Amino acid sequence: MKLLVTGGAGFIGSHFIRYMLSAYPTYHIINLDKLTYAGNLDNLRDVEANHNYRFVKGDICDPALVNKLAEEVDVIINFAAETHVDRSIMDPGGFIQTDVYGTYVLMEAARRFNHQRYIQISTDEVYGSIASGAFTEGSPLQPNSPYAASKAAGDLLVLSYTRTYGFPAIITRCSNNFGPNQYPEKVIPLFITNAIENKPLPLYGDGQNVRDWIYVVDHCAAIDCVLHQGKTGNVYNVGGGNERTNIELTHLILNALERPASLIQFVKDRPGHDRRYAINDQKIHALGYQSRHPFDETLRATVRWYQDNLAWWQRIKSGSFQQYYSRQYSTSG
Ligand code: NAD
Ligand code: DAU
Repeated sequence: MKLLVTGGAGFIGSHFIRYMLSAYPTYHIINLDKLTYAGNLDNLRDVEANHNYRFVKGDICDPALVNKLAEEVDVIINFAAETHVDRSIMDPGGFIQTDVYGTYVLMEAARRFNHQRYIQISTDEVYGSIASGAFTEGSPLQPNSPYAASKAAGDLLVLSYTRTYGFPAIITRCSNNFGPNQYPEKVIPLFITNAIENKPLPLYGDGQNVRDWIYVVDHCAAIDCVLHQGKTGNVYNVGGGNERTNIELTHLILNALERPASLIQFVKDRPGHDRRYAINDQKIHALGYQSRHPFDETLRATVRWYQDNLAWWQRIKSGSFQQYYSRQYSTSG
């Protein structure tokens, strides 16, 4: 099989490429990535010499380039996106362009070359917040941030193509990922790296917001499962089964690093901050998918990875949202 993986220099995409090259030594992968602030070829140093792997720098919004690459492959797996909620609140334009228009460009190319499968990597954030229970794949979409809305718009476009053109797409909607190589503006790597540097950990609002955490390699296994076993035209939720409040998560990180709770700094809440994400993922389990990585152990391993890879994050952290928009922060008193 020949795959075009878009956004493969980012956090999840780079793990997915490594996972697939190891699991399927006969598969060929082209990685198309624009190398935005979030794209980093250091994430893929260990696979760049693999003869079945090729990197192309470029934009998924460029139809000529996308068509050229689509002609060479059987499947597109679209990870490319603007992904940080806080950036989307400050500056939504790039999210609409990449997450919606870029999805359109990729699907048109897949149609032109008659691909038999297209995978859209989406998110549980499209459902919005839920006080109790869990969203299923049939729940209505109620995105609350420009990021979530741009992903929901991409999903709706994909679903419209499945109905109008019989386009062979599958959508995955996963919960919050963590692991090595995550850009240090998302909460886990931000808090780990701040704690290592003895800097404050800026906890939004009352710290009681809940996220469901999944180790990134389990997400890769779920995508592998839908690529090979999923039914086109379907959506599959992928959860971690590890709900934690942000304050619980923060204490776990501080404990792992033996840093004091006094580093926690409660700051002004994120506008439109979703209180709780939770999804029911029985549908993908029925395909045979199982998560394999226990939360506490992989969180500790992730902390160790950031301790052992200072050069990886110190070089890029100056471009993080928190540095760029540091004037936005103020203590809530
Ligand atoms: P990331 O921000 O780490 O990486 C995104 C990658 O996309 C980067 O390498 C960037 O250079 C590339 N990119 C951005 N715009 C592009 C464009 N126009 N053309 C080509 N490449 C472009 O993101 P991530 O956390 O790895 O997320 C990957 C995908 O998974 C996204 O679609 C995201 O919505 C989805 N997702 C993420 C999570 C999570 O917790 N991180 C959870 C569920 C779903
Ligand atoms: O649910 C999947 C989504 O998870 C993905 O689609 C997104 O791409 C990904 O960024 C993530 O979105 P979140 O907004 O949940 O992740 P983030 O790491 O930004 O924040 C997690 C929680 O931590 C959230 O409740 C906000 C809080 N937070 C975040 C930051 C950056 C803080 O309290 N302080 C912070 O500095």
